[in-house]
Amino acid sequence: MPDAPSSRGWTSPSASEPQELAGVPSEERGRISLRYREMDRVLGGGLVPGSVALFAGEPGVGKSTLLLQAADFVAAKGVKVLYVSGEESEQQIKLRSNRLGLSGRGIYLLAETDVDQIIHQLEERLPGLVVIDSIQTLSTAEASSGPGSVTQVRECALRLMRWAKARGTPVLLAGHVTKDGTLAGPRVLEHMVDVVLYLEGENLGAHRLLRSVKNRFGSTNEVAMFRMGDGGLEEVSDPSKALLEERGQGAVGSAVVSVLEGSRPLLVEIQALTSPSALPVPRRTANGVDYNRMIMITAVLARRARLSLANQDIIVNVAGGLRVSEPGADLGMALAIASSFRNQPIKPGLVAIGEVGLSGELRSAPQTDRRLAEAARLGFSSCVLPAWARGKIPATTGLELVYAPTLGEAMRLSLERRSGKGGVAEESELANLEKLEE
Ligand code: TYD
Ligand code: MG
Repeated sequence: MPDAPSSRGWTSPSASEPQELAGVPSEERGRISLRYREMDRVLGGGLVPGSVALFAGEPGVGKSTLLLQAADFVAAKGVKVLYVSGEESEQQIKLRSNRLGLSGRGIYLLAETDVDQIIHQLEERLPGLVVIDSIQTLSTAEASSGPGSVTQVRECALRLMRWAKARGTPVLLAGHVTKDGTLAGPRVLEHMVDVVLYLEGENLGAHRLLRSVKNRFGSTNEVAMFRMGDGGLEEVSDPSKALLEERGQGAVGSAVVSVLEGSRPLLVEIQALTSPSALPVPRRTANGVDYNRMIMITAVLARRARLSLANQDIIVNVAGGLRVSEPGADLGMALAIASSFRNQPIKPGLVAIGEVGLSGELRSAPQTDRRLAEAARLGFSSCVLPAWARGKIPATTGLELVYAPTLGEAMRLSLERRSGKGGVAEESELANLEKLEE
């Protein structure tokens, strides 16, 4: 982006002379750590100098907390931080800082909403990191609409970005989004800023997920997990473990899948409950999985694996409030439903990875080896996989690999046979299934 010549006494040090690409130095100036290793990873290895990162999330999710904690960490390294708050007074921020046990040394608070005043202050003080909480509260007298309007948000962000680029100083913006994501601000900003991170907390209890949806300096869809406690946000360095912590062993209707969130494999429990419906149209509820995907898998189970699910209410739930949106979790979802319906638990220590097709065939999920490595790390002993993956996976995982060409076959290999437990399953049904598969 060209740096506009400024009327406020500062100009870009690299004013527009063309440079040969080959001659552009490739080493990045040192990235800045924001305290949490997980957050640095989501940023692509720390914050890039001169970049502008938007932290978007619903009010109350913890944006201010996270930013203040990060600011304190950076300040403690001797970097001057300017924390601009348009929402809270110095007193309120002090209270939060006390709660979080932060010293506050090196953090300068500015309660100001006029962006031109803010830039004036930035020029006076030349901080090494700027936090703006939140972008929606800022305005400039040069735009006529009110604070929070699209014009104002865009104009204010633009001015801050120019300053950030010119000075090589990173700026963190907090931005509110409402549940339906309608609030103009962050959506408008997504195209402008370098990095967009969403802090999510809905249905997650004390857990928070920080997700990169845009990153000019790293990959997107990276996820970091935090837990909101009395001392603010702590990072959860082992999310798979945290997600499986409260899992009951040998439970019927519970399957563990290995999904990829960005570059991070995550082990997640998918639960299903089937029960005979009292309604003319049985109920289907999908929590944390895609509703249409669940309907498709139910149909495949009914048609290709001959489970009589037509009169069953079916609830599918992802434990821990997580959302699982990738097809690699299909097989696990299918096994969870089958497990509940048959009242047969899935074999202990088994993980499922694979996509389910309409004819009941199984397909490989990308980066199966990384998913397997995560399962092995957490002590799982076997994995059911599409037969397609045979021979394509390095044999070093330490897991017993069980290959199945079809969903029916995967069910047979994954469900524990229980005798006389009163499930819907019957040996004759299993025998049927065996005949069905060519
Ligand atoms: P906040 O950072 O103010 O959210 P945002 O800036 O996104 O609106 O976080 C607000 C919530 O976090 C509030 O409900 C209280 C809770 N909280 C804790 O549970 N522990 C803490 O240490 C702090 C500072 C906040
Ligand atoms: Mg806040």
